[in-house]
Amino acid sequence: MSKSKAHEPATKNWLPLEAKAELARLAQEIRKHDALYHGEDKPAISDAEYDSLRGAYRDLRAQFPELAPVDDPEKQVGYAPQAGFSKVGHQVPMLSLGNAFSPDDVTDFVARIHRYLGWKTDGKEAAALRFVAEPKIDGLSCSLRYEQGKLTVAATRGDGVTGENITANVRTIATVPQQLHGNYPDMVEVRGEVYMARADFLALNQARQAAQEEPFANPRNAAAGSLRQLDATITAQRKLRFFAYALGAASAPVAATQTALRQQLKSWGFTLNEPAAACATTAELLAYFARIGGERSALPFDIDGVVYKVDDCALQERLGFVSRAPRWAIAHKFAAEQAQTRLKAITIQVGRTGVLTPVAELEPVNVGGVMVSRATLHNADEIVRKDIRVGDSVTVQRAGDVIPQIVSSDAGKRAADSAPFTFPTQCPVCHSHVVEQEDYAARRCSGGLFCPAQQQEKLRHFVSRDAFNIEGLGEQRIEEFIQLGWLHSPADIFRLGQHKDALLQREGWKEKSVSNLLAAIEARRTIPLAKLIYALGIPQVGEVTAKQLAMHYRNYPHWYDAMRRVAANDETARTELDDLPNIDQALIASVSDFFAEAHNRAVIEELAQLLRIEEQAAPVASDHPLAGKTIVFTGTLQSMGRNEAKAKAESLGAKIGSGISKNTDYLVMGEDAGSKADKAKALGITILSEAEWIKLTE
Ligand code: IVH
Repeated sequence: MSKSKAHEPATKNWLPLEAKAELARLAQEIRKHDALYHGEDKPAISDAEYDSLRGAYRDLRAQFPELAPVDDPEKQVGYAPQAGFSKVGHQVPMLSLGNAFSPDDVTDFVARIHRYLGWKTDGKEAAALRFVAEPKIDGLSCSLRYEQGKLTVAATRGDGVTGENITANVRTIATVPQQLHGNYPDMVEVRGEVYMARADFLALNQARQAAQEEPFANPRNAAAGSLRQLDATITAQRKLRFFAYALGAASAPVAATQTALRQQLKSWGFTLNEPAAACATTAELLAYFARIGGERSALPFDIDGVVYKVDDCALQERLGFVSRAPRWAIAHKFAAEQAQTRLKAITIQVGRTGVLTPVAELEPVNVGGVMVSRATLHNADEIVRKDIRVGDSVTVQRAGDVIPQIVSSDAGKRAADSAPFTFPTQCPVCHSHVVEQEDYAARRCSGGLFCPAQQQEKLRHFVSRDAFNIEGLGEQRIEEFIQLGWLHSPADIFRLGQHKDALLQREGWKEKSVSNLLAAIEARRTIPLAKLIYALGIPQVGEVTAKQLAMHYRNYPHWYDAMRRVAANDETARTELDDLPNIDQALIASVSDFFAEAHNRAVIEELAQLLRIEEQAAPVASDHPLAGKTIVFTGTLQSMGRNEAKAKAESLGAKIGSGISKNTDYLVMGEDAGSKADKAKALGITILSEAEWIKLTE
């Protein structure tokens, strides 16, 4: 997940050059997290961490406004729309809100308004300034256009100026009126938040987990993920709701105050953010904040703060906007709920795909009304970055997220003999070796075929349609057989016949269903090599790669032996694999990790004995002169890359050799060729120039 460096304190005295670099770095971090949050609905840091990142940027930018990068995040409202949906321009921009984190920030907000309007307050607040306070819902802002009272277009905020057209999806939301009630202008845009209630979120995640799908991190991500479906029938299955809180463009004035607007929205048929309150002083705003804070956990939806808005629309107009937010409104955010406790241990969880996740085992502690005894530590990097050690006194946080997090650890309270955590090098479940993946902070168990934590997922893949395609052996039956102790590895599938009598005794099984299942399994005892390779579920080896490996190695013993040698770092075997088109280093590393694990090899060998593995037929013999010939390339080709040349030769039925031998038919010589030419000459092999070779392929 996040590898972000902690931001430097704002109090540091920056030199301009340093400040410029730091601003660029922070801006890049912000963009990265914006992309994860808005683009992929997969945040890597908590909202509080994100806010503090933005705060650090804003503070430094205030000191050096002239050094802000061109793509200044302060000037950008949201995240640019994704491809896939058509675009909708917002006639009135959809803005964001400034944040207040403390009572002082709220006092400043009110004072700023007075100053801007030129109202003398003599230390007292002007009685004419009234506010409406509403809960701030954690969802996705959305603009709904009504023409003649009918919903015509629904759009996301996007970057504030252009959003995505999500009309089809929004039509599936029950709390969005398709037709306004009562009187309405010819055209009006209603703005509000699409969100998911907490109960619906929990039910959705339960269903996703049961279906082996990744759960959403929080209701906001669930709402975003559900709304951004290109297929509206999926959106329809998710229980989304809508709160209205503002207007966009309108063909005629609607209301003179926010209070009147709320009434109007309600009579048109919208649901509003409740409980709202009218407030006339800062003290009243803060009292509302405290009250909602207390009621927060009892609300059926997640809120991350409250919003204060100047009630009078004429004043709103006068106050206008500054960069990305209105001057007349502010979001007062709740602090993340935190508590201190002791980290008893760090355990490692093995996910169904083999990813190892460190988990903090805590002395149980009450965090904002919920007892917390475990928190995620995300990954090995995070433990190092935050210097978290077993025995430490740590700060735990729940910030809208369902999964508690460790914010920091107090190094001052640490025992003298404490030591950094060493990440295990063996899987805690199956003891296979742990591999680190480049470009990805996760570590993974390499015992894919053997590890009980990955068993069910691997077996499900093994029998799936494009792999062994065993009908009647679905997810639930796999689970049943695993629980009965009949199924551990793929080989066991082909021994299920041994349990025929026991199976007939079980509820839900009849003579017919048992014999159908066993027949389906028997039918797959003969399997093409490519299907077998794909079925093993080696990370990175999809159907296309599996087919390619089968085409090249042709039969099982040859392929298996080559893979074993790749894992044993055999130079020739590695070069041969590397020479295949479209095979990259990541794939070689993955294959190598997989076959280096003795457990995996044992499972494959056991399985192979129970199967008849069909040889991959040679590519259809073409009548091309290159068909069946073995070609070796050497030196640099001018007109195309090496891989393209190889792919071309293979498509004509030729085989590619990596070294010169008596079986070589042609050596194609590019520029700066090495010793291969001499060897070819000595063996009397035909040497082709690049031009001659191209001519042959035509
Ligand atoms: S008023 C001109 N009221 O929070 C801005 N926004 O962080 C009009 N939000 O973009 C926004 N609850 O998506 C408003 N009661 C509420 C809200 C609310 C949630 C969202 C909205 C906004 C974001 C800012």
